[in-house]
Amino acid sequence: MKNILVTGGAGFIGSAFVRHMVANYPDYNIVCYDKLTYAGNVDNLLPVSDEENYRFERGDIADRRAVQHVLEQYAIDTIVNFAAESHVDRSILEPDAFIHTDVVGAYILLDEGRKHGIERFCQVSTDEVYGDIEVGHSVEDDRFLPNSPYAASKAGGELMVRAYHVTYGLDTVITRGSNTYGPYQYPEKLVPFFTTEAMDDRPLPLYGDGEQIRDWLHVDDHARGVDCILHFGRPGEAYNLAGENQRHNINVTRRILDLLGKPQSLIRHVPDREGHDRRYAMTAEKARALGWQRQFDFDRGLEATVRWYQENEWWWRKIKTGDYLEYYKRQYAERLASIR
Ligand code: NAD
Ligand code: DAU
Repeated sequence: MKNILVTGGAGFIGSAFVRHMVANYPDYNIVCYDKLTYAGNVDNLLPVSDEENYRFERGDIADRRAVQHVLEQYAIDTIVNFAAESHVDRSILEPDAFIHTDVVGAYILLDEGRKHGIERFCQVSTDEVYGDIEVGHSVEDDRFLPNSPYAASKAGGELMVRAYHVTYGLDTVITRGSNTYGPYQYPEKLVPFFTTEAMDDRPLPLYGDGEQIRDWLHVDDHARGVDCILHFGRPGEAYNLAGENQRHNINVTRRILDLLGKPQSLIRHVPDREGHDRRYAMTAEKARALGWQRQFDFDRGLEATVRWYQENEWWWRKIKTGDYLEYYKRQYAERLASIR
């Protein structure tokens, strides 16, 4: 590996990965390729913007010509694909962009990567491909039962990766991460959304009974996990990157309010997300066997994360304007009004 294309590198986890790789591998050239959708943010990359082994190119992974160009321009030998539409609620409102990026985009990257003779393709995927898991833990060979348009599009992307490995012999690896939290996360996801809303004493719209379970993983542990699988994963294999830290949504919400010194009365139980998965849980044995070890304890990680949003209002206040407010209205206005 020498010239690595990191797609979606201006997003939440992709930017953590870029910052990690630029700092830890001075011999690699890290090229971030990102469309800069509403979720992409060059501010996330400010810490590396002047580094010699880092470059940024704006582009769509589903744009074949643009992908060809960037692969040639930088003699790319490795692709790590973080680029995706990533928010479940938006996939329920409008699935189109999810098919475009998470399925067609993944296919274009695989196809051009193969034609350009890349050495390795790493697809960043999610525990949501396994679907709702009432008891026990998902392991890598479990079948896919995706329930939201987002989860189905990620499963589609993964299946295309598998096909390119089996049919064309492309060297591929897949990571399946669990719910990720930390700095620089777009404030539509539970942790940054509730933290920043509570800071402004606004209601927190908790879906349904709030007893759904998610398995939380710190973004820096996720980034190190992708690094580990990229370097040591076996061709054609998938690896769970599990937080192994399951929490009920209501408890995460209460903890955020406590950390901010805000009242629990900000919580509003609003009508549930359609098709809402109750529980995700995976084991991380297979990734651990390759040497991946999580470093963050959830309680301390969540506290540091909440502090980060308190100390970095410059980062999120400018996001919560314009289109963001339109989305907020569409997603929450009726739900909140229905419980008044
Ligand atoms: P994000 O929404 O914060 O970032 C996505 C990035 O992809 C943005 O920078 C966006 O501009 C870019 N992008 C979108 N469409 C593109 C396109 N067509 N071409 C090029 N760039 C495009 O997402 P995230 O939370 O950082 O997730 C990154 C990856 O990790 C995704 O593949 C997601 O499915 C996966 N994942 C996320 C989580 C999580 O909890 N956030 C957990 C497991 C897996
Ligand atoms: O599990 C991995 C997945 O985690 C990733 O693949 C996705 O990209 C990522 O968005 C995340 O999906 P979730 O749907 O689990 O994350 P979200 O932050 O949207 O929601 C977390 C839980 O909180 C979920 O059970 C829904 C609930 N929730 C969320 C929001 C935004 C609420 O109750 N109210 C809300 O307003």
